[in-house]
Amino acid sequence: MLDLGSGAGFDAFLAAQRVGESGKVIGVDMTHEMIEKAIVNAEKLNISNVDFRLGEIEKLPVSDSAVDVVISNCVINLSPDKSAVFKEIHRTLRPGAASLFQTFFVQEKCLKKSAATLRLIPVECPEPFHPVR
Ligand SMILES: C[S@@+](CC[C@H](N)C(=O)[O-])C[C@H]1O[C@@H](n2cnc3c(N)ncnc32)[C@H](O)[C@@H]1O
Repeated sequence: MLDLGSGAGFDAFLAAQRVGESGKVIGVDMTHEMIEKAIVNAEKLNISNVDFRLGEIEKLPVSDSAVDVVISNCVINLSPDKSAVFKEIHRTLRPGAASLFQTFFVQEKCLKKSAATLRLIPVECPEPFHPVR
């Protein structure tokens, strides 16, 4: 599983539980600080099936067709080049794999409905979330 914009690792650690010991989670973040923090957190939590990599989600440090699932929580919406992000997601996913971008789609829908999200204030989105496959 690949987590775009992994920050301090919170979502990657949840994903690591889901993939089990035989699976692996790659977290990508563009700041040294977050990568270092995530590595320290993984050590503290004794989680060994995560691999945090420095990089941008528009140019992922991941090989072609390397992952089964891509997740991203509250990061794709930050990218100024979403088209590059989706090309990279397509490149790194193996054929038939799934992608989940919860916050991106929810916020895109909510943006049309609420000025509050423009100031990045969390709001409830009435639309159901449908994963893209
Ligand atoms: C709101 S945090 C989300 C962290 C993580 N998903 C979580 O829930 O713990 C956003 C993270 O995305 C990273 N980020 C933002 N834009 C990025 C980009 N274009 N490429 C890589 N990382 C990015 C930031 O450095 C930050 O750590």
